[in-house]
Amino acid sequence: MHFRTRAIHVGQERDPTTGAVVPPIYVASTFAQPGAGVWGEYDYSRSGNPTRKNFETTIASLEGGLKALAFATGMAATHCASMLLAPGDEIVAGADIYGGTYRLLHKVTARNQVRITLIDSTDLAAVAAAMRPGVKLLWIESPGNPLMSITDIAACAEIAHRHGALLGVDSTFATPALTRPQELGADIVMHSATKYIGGHSDLTGGVLVVRDQELFDRLYFLQNATGAVMGPWESHLCSRGLKTLDLRVREHCRTAQLLAEHLAKHPSVNRVLYPGLPSHPGHELAARQMQVGFGGMLTIEVKGDLAAAKRVCESTKLFQLAVSLGAAESLIEQPATMSHASYDRADRLAHGITDGLVRLSVGLEAFEDLRDDLDQALAG
Ligand SMILES: Cc1ncc(COP(=O)(O)O)c(C=O)c1O
Repeated sequence: MHFRTRAIHVGQERDPTTGAVVPPIYVASTFAQPGAGVWGEYDYSRSGNPTRKNFETTIASLEGGLKALAFATGMAATHCASMLLAPGDEIVAGADIYGGTYRLLHKVTARNQVRITLIDSTDLAAVAAAMRPGVKLLWIESPGNPLMSITDIAACAEIAHRHGALLGVDSTFATPALTRPQELGADIVMHSATKYIGGHSDLTGGVLVVRDQELFDRLYFLQNATGAVMGPWESHLCSRGLKTLDLRVREHCRTAQLLAEHLAKHPSVNRVLYPGLPSHPGHELAARQMQVGFGGMLTIEVKGDLAAAKRVCESTKLFQLAVSLGAAESLIEQPATMSHASYDRADRLAHGITDGLVRLSVGLEAFEDLRDDLDQALAG
């Protein structure tokens, strides 16, 4: 079955009792058992819930993985993966990552004597050089956040495995409609389902997808032990979101490409970071690694300082000033003061997250309206 068909049918069987074409939402926290000490498929909703299972089945299929686990938020999913490490282990992570992941690794995981090293993951020699003996996990994002850097996932998988480490990919920006890291050798694929998977700014959620039963069992144990699972309502909304993911992502990509081309010629813009532009350093790799398009996220560097970028963010009318991304509504934000404020300032600047950056999540509105909105904000 094709991707789009699986998004609608795998894990979404009709209800055998009523014939309802959309499976019911199971809100029960607990499930009656056939006998004392005799367990049915479900016993308690932290450990497993049919509505969550349906969503996990669909997303695992779309990623080309074996199984998935759904969480209350994206950070809960990343946290679960980070708990695979023990004191004395090390995580090597790309520098172009979500600010919250930076905070989790440096300010929570590191407290457990897990060493954290950030590298430029687009530089494969730097990745290989960082793989010291204690490294157990290489964690990357592609496209990266907020610089839209493109990392060679297959090459990173090969490097990680050569050094006995796992490769985890936060694929929130790409979604399985554009990139399937598992097919390129990644061991763990993570999503903030809050973004494109939900797709409508009305839920929080996270996912881990794996292709190995033993790794799944370890992650399931950690998820069940710590408890940050996705609720049934969110699971239903995520299943619904997946049905239109392919269609939505195609349109996000089309409009983002047009806006990137327009902004690249704009006199108030220093540079446009979008992998769909031939000028982007990762363009050729993105063309091989991403299907359909180059994503709905783009970052611009406006001329001027922090205040100039702040003014642009506060002047748009359709682009709403908010963190998050991947929904029908277009959003605008300033990484230095918003999504990446949790970076230490020195680290932020060292990794190219300059004060003039403005990040756009291109929604599903008409291109012409979004273009005009940005033009009036940049003119101000
Ligand atoms: C790339 C990326 N990863 C992870 C997260 C964290 O997800 P959540 O906010 O659902 O916890 C975000 C949130 O913005 C993100 O953009």
